[in-house]
Amino acid sequence: MPDARTLLFHPLGLPGSGRVRYGAAMALWRDGSISAEVLEVYRVASAHDARDPLEALRDLGLPLPHRTAMEPPVKALYTAARDYLLTLDHPGAAEVRRGLPADPGPEQARPARRNAVVDRWLAPALQAMDTFHHSLAQAIGDAADRLEWIAYDSYPAADIGPHFPGGHAYAMIFGGDAPFAAYDFDLDLFLIAPHTLYRDHHHAAPELYAPLTGPHGWRFGAGRPLVVKPAHQPVWNPAHQPHLTKTGAVPFLALVVWTRDVNEVARVIPAPDWAELEATKIA
Ligand SMILES: [Fe+2]
Repeated sequence: MPDARTLLFHPLGLPGSGRVRYGAAMALWRDGSISAEVLEVYRVASAHDARDPLEALRDLGLPLPHRTAMEPPVKALYTAARDYLLTLDHPGAAEVRRGLPADPGPEQARPARRNAVVDRWLAPALQAMDTFHHSLAQAIGDAADRLEWIAYDSYPAADIGPHFPGGHAYAMIFGGDAPFAAYDFDLDLFLIAPHTLYRDHHHAAPELYAPLTGPHGWRFGAGRPLVVKPAHQPVWNPAHQPHLTKTGAVPFLALVVWTRDVNEVARVIPAPDWAELEATKIA
């Protein structure tokens, strides 16, 4: 039987789900986890299976409930990643800062999941991080086996090509997925194997790449030449800006932030020179 925290986020639209959420809210109110005001929102919404109580809570300025406590190593990683991101200067810095509270609070539980790219390339990536960033590397290493590492699977195979799908993995550190999201913001760790081309693509989410290793090649428009960038130089992609990454000899490890529209999928932009870029070696 799922616990009350899980049932509080029972998916919208399922018949009877409004009452399930209200029942869960009642249990959480009884143990002091939520206030009577928050419980009242769930009571009012209980007759409407498709009505999102989180929206009403936001409108009323009430605190949004989360699913579960962040595990200590993940919370330590969040703090180290946030400390690092707050030092960066780039066009979207204010949006990024706004989405990173000092205390992330409890949030959606995710099962730890291993990934072959992580097993092979995370350790060398962390080793390649310089001594100035030792504590961040340590926090990543300590949390890595608690994270749910997955491959981004929204691209059609023909568009993204044969190398990227099995050559990368990412894991959410902080953020939310529909229908559980209490916010529209993601902070992820992103790992790409050496000498991998991530073809030109775009998405609605404004995006920060904060690469922790380097060098790597970039371009911001299909057909343009590659620009080589070092570790620790942030890349800010405004909404729908085309971008492509070609990793170098060192595995690419980055913190990636999507500041909104996190459920809008990314799309590949066709370009005639991918074969040439596959063959290009970045030192
Ligand atoms: Fe992107």
